[in-house]
Amino acid sequence: MFITMEGGEGSGKSTAIKEIVAELRKEGHEVVLTREPGGTPISEEIRDIILDKKNTAMDPKTEALLYAASRRQHIVEKILPALKAGKIVICDRYLDSSLAYQGGARGIGIDKVYEMNQFATEGLLPDLTILFDIEPKEGLKRIADNAGREVNRLDIERLPFHEKVRASFRKLAKRFPDRYVVIDASKGKKEVLEEAFKAIKDRMG
Ligand code: TYD
Repeated sequence: MFITMEGGEGSGKSTAIKEIVAELRKEGHEVVLTREPGGTPISEEIRDIILDKKNTAMDPKTEALLYAASRRQHIVEKILPALKAGKIVICDRYLDSSLAYQGGARGIGIDKVYEMNQFATEGLLPDLTILFDIEPKEGLKRIADNAGREVNRLDIERLPFHEKVRASFRKLAKRFPDRYVVIDASKGKKEVLEEAFKAIKDRMG
């Protein structure tokens, strides 16, 4: 089972993932927790280039290609072997982030980014994608309040960019209703966590 978690900045996604994974492991499931961009040494090196605040000259297509390159290595080296071994793979961001950020917000186009990623993913799609949906104004406020959090090159984009990201994710949820579950992440932490956990349990059957 391949599960991905998506959402805008400050949606509480990463915190929720940690608790979900702990809960699943407590139940005896073998879970591999990983993230994009990153998840393997090569992918993490590519991540550093993409998210480096000094790389302001990066072209949107270069950005999209680097995310896809990082993804390719991640799939081959980590995701597929874990899935083949029968483990549950939970990934903090995956293909849909490229579709929303590079396709939607950067303006390359969702279809174009999807098509380009086929070369990297060879069609590997999640069984379940949980979208932690939050208004960007609220999400960015949470980040600002959380002084200890690291701020990257995409975090510092302005509100309209993050609004496009959100609209794109919501569009994707409508386009792929079979694998998407949308959670209202403005709710309390406990409620969000419960909903996400229930979505996973339902999918596991
Ligand atoms: P990270 O700090 O891991 O983000 P978060 O905690 O918000 O999940 O940084 C990843 C950033 O990269 C985030 O701003 C989303 C962006 N991103 C893309 O633009 N395209 C992609 O394909 C992926 C995987 C991430």
